[in-house]
Amino acid sequence: MAADRSLVATSVKVGSLELAHPIIAASGTAGHGAELSAYGDLSTLGAVVVKSLSAEAWAGNPAPRVHPIAQGMINAVGLQGSGVAHWLANDLPAMATAQVKAVVSIWGQSVEEYRRAAELLSKGLESSPYRDTVIAVEVNLSCPNLSGHGIFAHDIELSASVIATCMILQRPLWAKLSPNTDRLIDVARAVQNAGASAVTLINTVVGLVLDPHTGRPVLGNGVGGLSGRAIHPVAVRAVFDVHAAVPDLAIVGVGGVASGWDAAELMLAGASAVQVGTATFADPRACFKIANELENWVRERKIGVLADLTGRAHSGGIHP
Ligand SMILES: Cc1cc2nc3c(=O)[nH]c(=O)nc-3n(C[C@H](O)[C@H](O)[C@H](O)COP(=O)(O)O)c2cc1C
Repeated sequence: MAADRSLVATSVKVGSLELAHPIIAASGTAGHGAELSAYGDLSTLGAVVVKSLSAEAWAGNPAPRVHPIAQGMINAVGLQGSGVAHWLANDLPAMATAQVKAVVSIWGQSVEEYRRAAELLSKGLESSPYRDTVIAVEVNLSCPNLSGHGIFAHDIELSASVIATCMILQRPLWAKLSPNTDRLIDVARAVQNAGASAVTLINTVVGLVLDPHTGRPVLGNGVGGLSGRAIHPVAVRAVFDVHAAVPDLAIVGVGGVASGWDAAELMLAGASAVQVGTATFADPRACFKIANELENWVRERKIGVLADLTGRAHSGGIHP
């Protein structure tokens, strides 16, 4: 049953950015723009994060790209996309019409490629009548670095340098970090110092699944990223640790959220807002269902303000 929103104050702040609701659709799981509006009113969500965009079109990884696992899935889609200009022309107008708050996710394989994506987006938005639809930019740092080794978000200096480069966008920047490193807290501090107004925690957890018939990896790329319920405790731990170490840094939590309680758990750990990813593949109405469940969850506990959940696990929790 839909919660009566009049009884719960749903707006939250991510840094200085105010959102009407903490529930957000996660990048790569909600299409390129307004596709989910067939299943509910997207303007009631905090925002929709679009599939990560690179400066130019990118083909992604060889098939198979996705595979189910117990409690989730593994994917190696490889950031396939049509590029920034195509998105501005084809997807942004539909998001504006549906009154969606858009968070644009960008990625690159070098600092230069991030700069190019940020520049194209910045120029495109300047001349677009729909520029106000884009409320923030999520910088996906969980990408391989072509000119070095490994992943941007595993490298403190590189992560800071990408964020500093993307500051030309003059919009709130959310740095999306990887859980596959023991340097998470240092990277979070570095991107904050470079200008990020929030970190999004977490991207997928690296994994490998073999095919019992062939004895070889099931995904065309070999390794892939785990998502869904299986990774939820990893996300809660990441959010909890970063909030404890850097309490003045806003956190957008993501990872295995499939119920109102899962979302509440990430907020109690320190998130100001929560994204829903893989759950949307099982049920395209998942964001709306989880938003209602979260409101019911706080209302049943006589907590009138959703934003009051943030960080409560660090300060005595909630009273039963
Ligand atoms: C098929 C698929 C595609 C994804 N594509 C992106 C992407 O383009 N950019 C990004 O930052 N994260 C991407 N993600 C990661 C999700 O946004 C999210 O961080 C992760 O899946 C954990 O959340 P979940 O367990 O709710 O799915 C993708 C995830 C999946 C399953």
